Amino acid sequence: VSIAVVLPAAGRGERLGAGVVKALRDLAGEPLLLHAVRGVRAVGAIGPVVVLAPIGLVDELQVLLASYDVVVTAGGEHRQDSVRQGLAALPADVDLVLVHDAARALTPVSVFDAVIDELRAGAEAVVPVLPVADTVKRVAGDRVVETVDRADLRAVQTPQGFSRDLLERAHARGGPAATDDAALVELLGRTVVTVPGSEDAFKVTRPFDLLVAEAVLKARARAH
Ligand code: C5P
Repeated sequence: VSIAVVLPAAGRGERLGAGVVKALRDLAGEPLLLHAVRGVRAVGAIGPVVVLAPIGLVDELQVLLASYDVVVTAGGEHRQDSVRQGLAALPADVDLVLVHDAARALTPVSVFDAVIDELRAGAEAVVPVLPVADTVKRVAGDRVVETVDRADLRAVQTPQGFSRDLLERAHARGGPAATDDAALVELLGRTVVTVPGSEDAFKVTRPFDLLVAEAVLKARARAH
């Protein structure tokens, strides 16, 4: 079985603050994207990797990633568009696809392995999840409408794994501005299985997340 990764890295990263795009933000002396690609390449079972770059930065990212055996191509306006471009760039012999946010740059190998194991065991769609720590309420404007039972809620991460056929069908069909790929598969009525995620797989979105990421890297360096 050939397993590929589609790595959307084409976001502008506006929530991180002004300046460079998210993929090139510095984390411990290296661009965030480099950390992400190294993490993916540390997973033995993964073959082809397609990185979706912000339009205008394809050449620059190609140079940055020259030694990592990845294909860099232009992403789209929304994450969903970027993933679709990535699927289109996959070699014909790929059977399983993991879609992984480049912004989850510190995702441990163990999470990739858990998703891959579940796919190999026959699941056609797999997502890593964590319990929700906060109490979650539905609101209308500034008024609380209701409290949602936290016991049934999970925060969903990436890598999300799929049989290639199913993911391509889900993206061909599309849907209303999905924020992850599993949502499109759910719209087809197919079963999505969960595996345990990791706190280290958090998405670098805001400046605070860069501080956490630096701390995680320091802790890992100490552990070695
Ligand atoms: O915006 P969001 O935090 O959901 O982005 C998740 C991932 O999708 C990031 O790695 C980002 O670079 C990527 N993305 C993309 N193309 C877009 C928007 C986001 O590849 N148009």
